[in-house]
Amino acid sequence: MSEDRVREVEGSVGSAVDGTGPIVGAGAPDLAGIEQSAARQIAATSTTEALSAVETEVLGKRSPLALAHRRLGDLAPEGRPEVGRVLQEVRDRLRSLVGDRRAVLAAAERVAELTADRLDLTEVVPGATVAPMRRGHLHLVTRTRDELEDVFVGMGFEVAEGPEAETDWYNFEALNIPPAHPARGMWDTFYLKLGEPETALLRTHTSPVQVHLMESAVAQGSLPIHAVMPGRCYRRDTPDARHLPVFHQVEGLVVDRGIGFGDLAGTIETFTTAYFGSDIHSRLRPAYFPFTEPSAEFEITCTICHGAGCRTCTGTGWIELGGCGMVDPSVFDAVGIDATVWSGFAFGFGIDRCAQMRHQIADMRALVENDIRFLNQF
Ligand code: PHE
Repeated sequence: MSEDRVREVEGSVGSAVDGTGPIVGAGAPDLAGIEQSAARQIAATSTTEALSAVETEVLGKRSPLALAHRRLGDLAPEGRPEVGRVLQEVRDRLRSLVGDRRAVLAAAERVAELTADRLDLTEVVPGATVAPMRRGHLHLVTRTRDELEDVFVGMGFEVAEGPEAETDWYNFEALNIPPAHPARGMWDTFYLKLGEPETALLRTHTSPVQVHLMESAVAQGSLPIHAVMPGRCYRRDTPDARHLPVFHQVEGLVVDRGIGFGDLAGTIETFTTAYFGSDIHSRLRPAYFPFTEPSAEFEITCTICHGAGCRTCTGTGWIELGGCGMVDPSVFDAVGIDATVWSGFAFGFGIDRCAQMRHQIADMRALVENDIRFLNQF
């Protein structure tokens, strides 16, 4: 606040002292003028430091407002309450202007500080100024896998992994699917030219990791098991909107004492609401898998229509996510676990399918086409 303005204000209040008339309003300070000029000063500040100085000038003890307040007593008594009220209002408005301005300036200063502090360790790329390179990010499937792991870790599961190339034993036999068994027809398998024909293959599901975990738990005497096993799987499928020949699953396995079907259903429902949100639920429908008994298909509320029925869920309101069931005693036999002491459940579902459901991706092939315009959206 300039000296001039202070004098000007003193002058206007002074007229009451001069006795130019004890009429209400006469000699009252020019509060509108004071406010306007203070507001302009606040708006003109460009640093928080300058703002603090202006704050003292316009709201401090020696400000025109304070002065006007002190001179209230000089006004005609009838006029005092009204002028006093307006004065308080002006003070409140100016305070909030200062507050708003401070927030804006502080934010700008923080940005400037961070920019100045940053060490630029990037190489100069010719043409980068024309089309600046953007930092990449994890692929949607990788992020989905991480998020799923987080949910299960939060539920007390450990995360394990197994190989993508398997022997017939892990992918089929130990899972109660003997050679030439019709159940093998459930999987379109990529065999590898290694050893005897049809003995090494790219895993068709993550279920073989169950076998690895159970075998090593038996060898180490470290039962129980509470684990999820995410990973890549392969099937000789023709790609379409809902299938890819290379895809991802997350397997779950619990082996403990006294595990029942209710534990399985509860785990699936807890996971579903935790990952998809409290309005999405799960249901289990009878199914068949050689390595679980009883077996079920695990479905969730369609995330597109929220259960009302739409094209994606073919009008049922439910979308299949994977399979599950109680570990078949013949699997326990294959790995040497005593099925009279231990019981357990297993589940497996598609990670790509989860990403598709969560982000409403019409065609799953977009996940592997490497179209940057698609990938950048996530
Ligand atoms: N492995 C099965 C599949 O890929 C899913 C499944 C996992 C079913 C675990 C039951 C138990 O179709």
